[in-house]
Amino acid sequence: MTQNGSYPLWWKDAVIYQVYPRSFADSDGDGIGDLPGIIEHMPYLEKLGIDALWISPCFQSPQGDAGYDISDYRKIDPLFGTVEDYEALIKEAHDHGLRVIADMVPNHTSDQHAWFKEAMASDPGSAARERYLFRDGKGKGGNEPPNNWQSVFGGIAWTREPERKDGKPRQWYLHLFDSCQPDLNWDNPEVRTEFESVLRFWLDRGVDGFRIDVAHGLIKEKGLPPYTERATMVGEDDDKTPSDAPMWDRDGVHDIYRSWHKLLASYPGDRMLVAEAWVKPLSRLARYVRPDEMQQTFNFDYLLCRWNAAKYREIITDSLEAMHEVGAITAWVMSNHDSVRHASRLGLKDAGARPQGIDAAHEQPNEALGLRRARAVIFMTLGLPGSVTLYQGEELGLPDHTTLDKKYRQDPAFFRTNGEEIGRDGCRIPMPWTADGPSLGFNENGELWLPQPQQYKEYAVSTEENDPHSTLALYRTLLNQRKNSRLGRGTLEWAEPRDNVVEFTNGDVRVVLNCGDEPVSLPPGEILAASLEIEQDGVLPANAAVWISEGKG
Ligand code: NOJ
Repeated sequence: MTQNGSYPLWWKDAVIYQVYPRSFADSDGDGIGDLPGIIEHMPYLEKLGIDALWISPCFQSPQGDAGYDISDYRKIDPLFGTVEDYEALIKEAHDHGLRVIADMVPNHTSDQHAWFKEAMASDPGSAARERYLFRDGKGKGGNEPPNNWQSVFGGIAWTREPERKDGKPRQWYLHLFDSCQPDLNWDNPEVRTEFESVLRFWLDRGVDGFRIDVAHGLIKEKGLPPYTERATMVGEDDDKTPSDAPMWDRDGVHDIYRSWHKLLASYPGDRMLVAEAWVKPLSRLARYVRPDEMQQTFNFDYLLCRWNAAKYREIITDSLEAMHEVGAITAWVMSNHDSVRHASRLGLKDAGARPQGIDAAHEQPNEALGLRRARAVIFMTLGLPGSVTLYQGEELGLPDHTTLDKKYRQDPAFFRTNGEEIGRDGCRIPMPWTADGPSLGFNENGELWLPQPQQYKEYAVSTEENDPHSTLALYRTLLNQRKNSRLGRGTLEWAEPRDNVVEFTNGDVRVVLNCGDEPVSLPPGEILAASLEIEQDGVLPANAAVWISEGKG
């Protein structure tokens, strides 16, 4: 064991906590969270019992997509602080026994990046344009986009440059996301060299790893062949998941990760890479975590699974098998800044579905049921071998803001789809730290980049902190037990399948999750933790879960 209580290759069983800086804690009262805010709450994070922080992008950015549009990869945006603050954050985290994973965005830059500005000021065919994907338009005067690709955020994936001074035909540039996020050309060696240098910049400052944004998108099929489907991030429905999309999951991406693997390995201290790759099937996803590539890839099949015991069993079995094939661990995740929070998703009629945001006109989740299930599902998630990523606020049981008024919306997906997609603002609401105060302790003056819903007061850290039955207390208990029993390094053994029940043993813990609406019987054993009060011995109520001490019946 190392000094901070973790084992070699810490990422194999790490519980990683995603901090979404704009909504975590605001130290200067501008309504947007910042790095000093995170530093201030480090004792809270340590006490929770997690192993690492993943910090969503806080690099210099015009914030066209909440920081996923970076204009300088070596600077911190003044909204969040300075490079010195980031260094202080790393030190503080390390002093509290926590690692730090930075968020790297290599698929695209901001349109305000020096490279893109240079490209726009340069001629077609110039070296500056070769760093991006500029193409001539089709049709008369080049007035039609070069192909029919659609942006993940809606609309066509091409934008035409403004009128040129020389009067020559204007070119178009590709952006798989917003028009402020031009895609880089990863076939250009200069792009590769630059990103290796950026990775080194942050590795030299002590980051323990990187989450790689859109890891499956960097290489595009030669010739950019036509593709009619909207290339959404999520393959919700298996049948519709494109495996032939010319912009996703091309074999060429793996060379990039092999070289980054080597780069990280040249640093001491088990640095790691985790892929954000919306890729199916699992056998394709597993390619990102082959021994000489990344260490982890988020398991979005798990996040997308409906509230259904048989489905959970299937996805868990298939995931463990697929990752095992390549010698990798599985990285379980239920929520993040791109998805409706699972406490809300599990309260929908189609429990566990992932809508593209929820607003007042949509079905409102059953909050109590969603919370009850969220408290239960974490017993399964933290009971599994592998790594787990938590999203800030889920330890409080936070739901989404599901009635946020249109006037507050900021997500480019909302605007690019003309409001057809509500977007992701509802899961990005500032954290409630205290039950009172104008912004529930997010800052002192009540400025908020997105308003908090009424009920966030009930989920405040200060309230849950003092309640032994709170979701926060539950997370702390489970995280502590998980560590003590080394469940992350354990092996899963399924119990005899029963309708509506997910039941397995991992080391000395038996996990029983009842996804049904009727009570089920419990096996004998001492109850270590329960998602709600067990009133009748040997009976697990509907939508509930327990951990039982194995062999102490
Ligand atoms: C995935 C990120 O998680 C999301 O927030 C962002 O909008 C897109 N990639 C584009 O960078």
